[in-house]
Parts: sequence; C-alpha cells; structure tokens
Amino acid sequence: MAGAARVPSRVMSTSAASTNVSHPSGPHGVRLLHLTDLHLFATPAGTLKGVNTLDTFAAVVALAHRDHPLADACLLTGDLSQDETADSYIRLAEACADLPGRIFSLCGNHDDPDALRDGLFRAAAAVRKPFPAIHTDGSFFARRWQVVLLHSRVAGKVGGKVSDAELLRLEWALSAHPRHFALVCVHHQPMPVGSPWIDAIGLENGAEVLKRMRRHTHARALLFGHVHQELDVFFEGIRHLTSPSTCIQFTPGSQKFTLDAAAPGFRWLNLMDDGRIVTGVTRLAVAPAFTCEAGDPQYRGQAGEGRYEFPP
Ligand SMILES: [Fe+2]
Repeated sequence: MAGAARVPSRVMSTSAASTNVSHPSGPHGVRLLHLTDLHLFATPAGTLKGVNTLDTFAAVVALAHRDHPLADACLLTGDLSQDETADSYIRLAEACADLPGRIFSLCGNHDDPDALRDGLFRAAAAVRKPFPAIHTDGSFFARRWQVVLLHSRVAGKVGGKVSDAELLRLEWALSAHPRHFALVCVHHQPMPVGSPWIDAIGLENGAEVLKRMRRHTHARALLFGHVHQELDVFFEGIRHLTSPSTCIQFTPGSQKFTLDAAAPGFRWLNLMDDGRIVTGVTRLAVAPAFTCEAGDPQYRGQAGEGRYEFPP
C-alpha cells in the first residue's frame, strides 16, 4: 500500500493455541484493533451490493495503520470471505500486510475453514511479498489479559452455535487463568440487536456462553461481528461490543434486511491493566456507494449518495 510502512515478513501460521503477544503497549494497556466482516472475493474486482470489498478493506487497513501503528494485535472476527474460495484468503493475506501487530481470525458463516487454511498456506508459499501471519485458532495473552477466540460457524447455516468442545475450552480458559482478565471473541451475536431478521440468525446458544462468562468476574467483555453495525452495551451482565463491517453496513433496528449509508470502519480497544476496556470506533471519512438490486427491500439513505474515494 503506497505510503504505508511495511511490517516485517512473518511466517504464515494457521494455528496459535495459546500465544503471548510479545510487545504490549505501555500507557494504553494492550491495544487491539477489531476488523470484521470483510467479505472478500477471489477476484480483486469482487463486489457486494456494488461495493468493492477489497478496496474498502484496504482503506480500513490503511486507516488502522495510520492511527494505530503500534497496536499489539488485530482481531478479524469472521466473514473474511464472501465466495469461500482459497483465492479469497490469498487476497486477505495480501491485504493484511499493513496491519500492525499480530493477527488473529475466526471463521464466520461465509467462511470455509479448509479453503482458509489452503489459501493461507498458498499465500505463504508464494513468497512474492511479505505476508503477515494470520492465526486461525486458539487464544493469546497480553499483559493482564487473555483473549479467547471461539468458533461458532455451523456448516451450511447462516446462524451459529458454539460447540460443546468450544464451550469446554472457554470454561477451561477462564478457570485456568483467574489472574487474567478475559475478552471473548466470536462471530455470531449472542444477544438480540433489535433487528428481527438479524436476531433470527444469531448465536443459537449465546446464553451458554454468557452463563460461563458470568461465573468468572475476570471475564470482562464479548466481542463479535456478523451484525455489520456498531454496538457497546451491557446484556445479561456482560459487556457486548461489535463494530462496523469493513464493507457494507446494516441499519440498526431495521425490521428487514436494510443497508445503511454509514461508512466502513474498525474498533480500537485498550485493555487496561486494571480490567477496564477503553474503546471506540473509527470510520472512513466517506461511505462507499452501494447498489440495491431488484428485490432488495429497502435501504436507509440514498444509494450512491456517498462517493467512495480510495485511499480515504
Ligand atoms: Fe458479514
């Protein structure tokens, strides 16, 4: 990406069962960046509702790099791909080259774990340019914090569910590390967001996840994607955080599928040593123009009212 510093070459990895982020920042605690719902295609020209998702992701990455060049880690919480091809994950690896810190990812309902592994290994083997490591499993530690990544994808379904094995892993992670505050990440939302069409495709057993988190006072928040909008609320005693998609947005509170004219963006989080989370959302200055095809029921704002310019 022109004008942005290149991160050092790192070895591609598809597993990080338990990893230490080695250079946590000081006065801000641990600085994390949350980028979610990328919906990339094998072709760089791929569009979703008229939006070139690789362009918008690249623009969000550039913004994240500009504002947080020393971030400790980036969390990609699913729907990395739209077409579920290995090549789309090669595009992902290429586009993540300028993300700061280590990169951890989850699969969403639009992802294929086998294609993800295949794409990342093929990207690593290509060695034409330095790619960052993208970890696809496990959890990691930084200063006083543990970040637990839970898988919720169910093959063939849009909604999600955390398997019994993943619930056990969560329970173990929280029980085994009582001196670490915990941030839990998952793709599907465990809480209703007030849009019936989204709430129908959320996390089927979100209550099970929240029940386990409530047993441990050091479990501080749950971070998710899937809903393509920004939220920072308490639900069932647990702080819930989500972030804009890096491409198209859904209108909060919409009764039916509704695109929103808000700009793509990302969330930054400072995980403080005393257990607090200081966080906010940063968006591109201009939203991409989107199109509503025949059959799309509605959208808020006027399609194409924002002219998308790259870079922002
Ligand atoms: Fe999505």
